[in-house]
Amino acid sequence: MSGVFISFEGVDGVGKTTQVERLKRYIEELGREVVITREPGGTKLGVALRQLLLHGGDIAPRTEALLFAADRAQHVAEVIRPALTRGAVVISDRYIDSSLAYQAGGRELTQEEVRKLSLWATNDLLPERTYLLDMDPALSHNRLEHSEDRMESAGDGFQERTRREFLDLAKHEPSRFKVIDASKSIDEVWNQIRGDAESLLADWSCGL
Ligand code: TYD
Repeated sequence: MSGVFISFEGVDGVGKTTQVERLKRYIEELGREVVITREPGGTKLGVALRQLLLHGGDIAPRTEALLFAADRAQHVAEVIRPALTRGAVVISDRYIDSSLAYQAGGRELTQEEVRKLSLWATNDLLPERTYLLDMDPALSHNRLEHSEDRMESAGDGFQERTRREFLDLAKHEPSRFKVIDASKSIDEVWNQIRGDAESLLADWSCGL
């Protein structure tokens, strides 16, 4: 595979979508093909799964983990791998770390079982770079412009555990993760991402 795979992570309302759009524009200006996508819901099947996951009724923890993994398996097979094979830069708004932080951090499953499930679903595909947009969930939730979905309404304790879990994941994989203070202005956050993306993509061009 010759493309570059980048993911964005963070608790709800940290401003991932805005930064994903900026990064897309920046990379396109460098003359590269960029595919932006998201989880859950990056494929037609995924859109149906997203509806069930975010707006369905009660879902048992194992069912929830399996549905997110099923969404990811289809996403990798149908969108991400083909794009990477073409040499594109793929930017996904959420990926495996969301399952590790939300399903294992917030609910009752362990890291190990969720990681195994997700790596099996993706045939071990991990991003080259993950931007973790970090901020206090009590503040980021005030930024949400829509009514809360099933995950977002799980309560401050759940969101706070999720944030800690993301930070812990970043600590264990410092070469893949860049942690960015998302409480700063949109431009300040973007400047940090751009600085890092510049060197990431330069390394990648050298390897072509
Ligand atoms: P997102 O698309 O970021 O929500 P929105 O469009 O409302 O900003 O994510 C949907 C929710 O799904 C979010 O609360 C995080 C959760 N999620 C998981 O719990 N596990 C996962 O593996 C993924 C990808 C998302």
